[in-house]
Amino acid sequence: MVGLAEFFERKPDVEVVVFAGKGGLGKTTSSAALSYYKAVNEGKKVLCFSTDPQASLSDIFERDLFGKGIIEVAPNLHVVEIDADKNIASYQQEIKQKILDMYELDELPKEIEEYIDSTSAEPAMYESATYDAMADLVSSKEYDLYVFDMPPFGHGVRMVAMAEILSAWVDKITEARKEAAEYEAVASTLRGGVETEDMILKELGEIRRKMDTFTGLMTNSEKTAFFMVMVPEKMAILDTERALAMFKELNIGMSGVVVNQTYPRDLLNKPDLPDFLKKKIEGQEDHLIEIREKFGDLVSALIPMYDREPKGLDMISHVAEDLMHSRRDLLWW
Ligand SMILES: Nc1ncnc2c1ncn2[C@@H]1O[C@H](COP(=O)(O)OP(=O)(O)OP(=O)(O)O)[C@@H](O)[C@H]1O
Ligand SMILES: [Mg+2]
Repeated sequence: MVGLAEFFERKPDVEVVVFAGKGGLGKTTSSAALSYYKAVNEGKKVLCFSTDPQASLSDIFERDLFGKGIIEVAPNLHVVEIDADKNIASYQQEIKQKILDMYELDELPKEIEEYIDSTSAEPAMYESATYDAMADLVSSKEYDLYVFDMPPFGHGVRMVAMAEILSAWVDKITEARKEAAEYEAVASTLRGGVETEDMILKELGEIRRKMDTFTGLMTNSEKTAFFMVMVPEKMAILDTERALAMFKELNIGMSGVVVNQTYPRDLLNKPDLPDFLKKKIEGQEDHLIEIREKFGDLVSALIPMYDREPKGLDMISHVAEDLMHSRRDLLWW
């Protein structure tokens, strides 16, 4: 039987599942479906999480969740849709306050204020806010399963690479800080204390520890699973191959591939099938065979093309069933 149920039988200790892949192919749909199945069918305490500014989880669960904190949308199924812009703003505010406190200022120098404000325009800031929120949620250990619906850019691979870049960056600053501390210790003793430098170093140490724990979890294939969501189309095949190579470079194993929007082959037996649809279905055949050849056993689930957008708990429960126990008639091999 194809389907994610088989995967979870093999990997019962998985705590984090990440759906990655190009935009618009089914990451949010798969995240909602898996979360629903684990929570409602299996009674696990699940947290489904996203930072998509398009509020796609609100859209699929048909509830206003954006920036509203953790909300239980069905028994055991908790959803949180982080407003990353709001998080970035409060993060910047926090930095400003720290500088004010540390240097006992009443007001920030204008250039510093402008510099901090300008950082929100950087794409890395969005990713680091997402990353931070992920790390915080997972470290709470309150849930049996965390499902991350990756934001609609890149592959979600950059997200992971980010951790290593951040770690290296923290190490560099820590080193610089230690050096500065040696010089400043003398001056500070004259002023009556070494408090300030110690505080910064302590904070850097904490950031580093948090990142190490998180990276450790993300790269542990018994605990964390990455699935690429794709569709039976040429571009998606090329893209998934590229993503697989990128994951390899980061030393992260890809757990599997979810093939979404697959037409059931027995539709072809329908006598009144419109020619247009017939061509479309036949067109998928070659791609599905290629997917089988290229990704082999990595193909973990196939989800059919539905006659409407899967939205609302009722529809999600159908998708959940298809994701966990994929239908045989979707296989073209
Ligand atoms: N199997 C399917 N059958 C019919 N419609 C689908 C199917 N899967 C997804 N869709 C629809 O396709 C659109 C994109 O799906 P989804 O939002 O899950 O993709 P995504 O990868 O999360 O996109 P983004 O990268 O923008 O976040 C949605 O409108 C969704 O309802
Ligand atoms: Mg999405």
